[in-house]
Parts: sequence; structure tokens; C-alpha cells
Amino acid sequence: MNLLKPQVKPPLWLLAELTYRCPLQCPYCSNPLDFAKQEKELTTEQWITVFEQARAMGAVQIGFSGGEPLVRKDLPELIKAARDLGFYTNLITSGIGLTEKKIDAFAEAGLDHIQISFQASDETLNAALAGSAKAFQQKLDMAKAVKAHGYPMVLNFVLHRHNIHQIDKIIELSIELEADDVELATCQFYGWAQLNREGLLPTRQQIADAEAVVAEYRVKMADKGNLANLLFVTPDYYEERPKGCMGGWGAIFLSVTPEGMALPCHSARQLPVEFPSVLEQSLQDIWYNSFGFNKYRGFDWMPEPCRSCSEKEKDFGGCRCQAFMLTGNADNADPVCSKSEHHGMILEAREQANCTNIQVSQLQFRNRKNSQQLIFKAP
Ligand code: FES
Repeated sequence: MNLLKPQVKPPLWLLAELTYRCPLQCPYCSNPLDFAKQEKELTTEQWITVFEQARAMGAVQIGFSGGEPLVRKDLPELIKAARDLGFYTNLITSGIGLTEKKIDAFAEAGLDHIQISFQASDETLNAALAGSAKAFQQKLDMAKAVKAHGYPMVLNFVLHRHNIHQIDKIIELSIELEADDVELATCQFYGWAQLNREGLLPTRQQIADAEAVVAEYRVKMADKGNLANLLFVTPDYYEERPKGCMGGWGAIFLSVTPEGMALPCHSARQLPVEFPSVLEQSLQDIWYNSFGFNKYRGFDWMPEPCRSCSEKEKDFGGCRCQAFMLTGNADNADPVCSKSEHHGMILEAREQANCTNIQVSQLQFRNRKNSQQLIFKAP
């Protein structure tokens, strides 16, 4: 019986992961652990073909990410092609490698939006987390330059147990930089972040303290007209119900990896599911007909407790990647859900967060050497 199989709508959001190359080494990077095995990248023309197909299907927004997308010399050309097709274009960058000249070129190409990520509110911790002593000053300079070029100032800070105590300083830095939008996002545990989870997951108390500080600033800033949007994203490890990951599998989001694998989310390549290549199939065929994109669409695939759950249309059983990483079976309910038989793993992780003492220097940094040596194994 075909229970509530939704009609498949076209993708709205295309994420172009242009490259896995990156000058930084953040230990919470969501790129795959074995990224170093993947050296191939789509050419300019191949990317533009992907953009054309996605736009023809109805996608309206495109994100250029990586790795660090600035390492692609053809970035202005790619931005221009996407903009000419009518996409709303976002650049998601660490700011490393950005120059005033490049910002000019991107503006000329029609880039709509630039988001710069920071690792911390001070140079020392930023350097320790990014693996680069010069990164902090460069980010400050480029954040100011982006604003000076008339772009909204959009900052992203990834929070974890080693920097969440700085949240007031992070917000102060954002105010000083005249940020318009600030995303304070606690680590989501994929890729390198999952590998380092014990050393990154904040305690519940840390989250509560940070939430209180954010609330205070929201009140304080309300009259002043700056920091229009201050978004604080808590980790789902402290929730009792899972997130509706990606707005549903194959529902609105389509990601393409540097070498052209099409995925329903940026982490799905680790799943034991065959995903198609944009070099072998049209995006249209991939989106509507491929096994990988249909695998977790709708509700028929769900085992219990999701199948009979009244919240399944809201959370879709949670995140398939998280279910796979934690239980070894992507069909399972996301263990974040308290109805999952595996929810004890989440409770254990919370307990562990209260007693672990892993220092920043002990984290596994995202670099080629570690990538070549580490092999991710699901339990
Ligand atoms: Fe892949 Fe959630 S990140 S489904």
C-alpha cells in the first residue's frame, strides 16, 4: 500500500560543493573523512551544465561551498553563470584567500550574498581551531571589506565545548563588525565533527548558559537596530525529537560533490546507498528517478517506531545520516528521538560531555594526512 507518498516537487536549493581543498583544518568540518581520496573536480563547463539543469527544474537558490570555494579560480565565472540563470547566489567561505579584488570580481559577477565563518572571538583560539595563525586577522579584514562593498554582513560561528563560553565576546565581535545576520550554530555531528564528538559536544549547562546570554543580547540590541538577526542553533543531542533533516529526503535540497556525485544531503555519500553522478545522468533523472533520491522519500520505507508516529510528517524520522553513523543502519529512527530504541546512545553522549577532558590540541584535525590515515567505520 502506498501510504501518503508525497508528490515529488523540484529542488529549491542547490549546494555546489566546488572542491574539498581548504587551507584550514577545522576539526568539526562536515566534509567526508576520506576527502583526500577524492581529487577530481568538475570543470567550469560541467558545473555550469549542472546549474542550467537545476535552474530549468525550478531551483532558485545556489550555495557555493567546499572545502574552501575560493580556491577555485573560476569562481567569478561560476557565480556569473548562476546569476545569469536567475539563481540567488550565496558564497559560503572561511574568508581565507579572499581579497578586495576578488570581492570586486564577485560583485561584478552578480554575487548576492557572502557568509564568512569564524572559529572563535579571539586570535589564539581561532588559530588553534583553524590550524592557521593568520586566519583571524584575515577574516576580520575581509568581513569589513565585504560590508564596505555593500553586502550584508553575514557571520557564522560554529560553537562547541571549547568556544561556547565566549558567546558574549562572539556577539560583541559581531556588533563591532556591524554584522546584519549572525548564525551561532553549535556543531552538527557529521564528518570530522562526528569523529571528534566527544571532544566537541558542549554540556547541557554550557548550552543553557549560552542561551541565556543570547536572550540577554536580543533584549539589549532590540532598540539599537543592529544585529537584525541573531540565530542560535542548539545541537539536536539535547532534544527529545529529531530534526526534520534537509526538510525531508529529496524534498527541497540537492547537493553536488566536487567530482559530481548528486546527494540529497551533504553527508549522504557515507551511506551504503548508490548515488548517481551528474556526469552520467541528467539532474532531472537523478532527482525524480534515481534509487538514491527515492530511497527515503515519503513514509513507506519507515520501520517502527517512525511508521506509526504522529510526528513523522514533521520530522521524517530524523536524519538518515545520523541514524547510520550511530546505529549502522540508515533505516532506523534517528537515535535523537526518545522513542528510538537507540536513544540511550544520545543519553550516554550527554553524560560523557559532563566528564570528558579532551583539549583542542587532542582533536583530530581535518587535513590530508589525517584523511589518508582515517577510515570511517559505522558501528
Ligand atoms: Fe544526511 Fe541528515 S545529514 S539525512
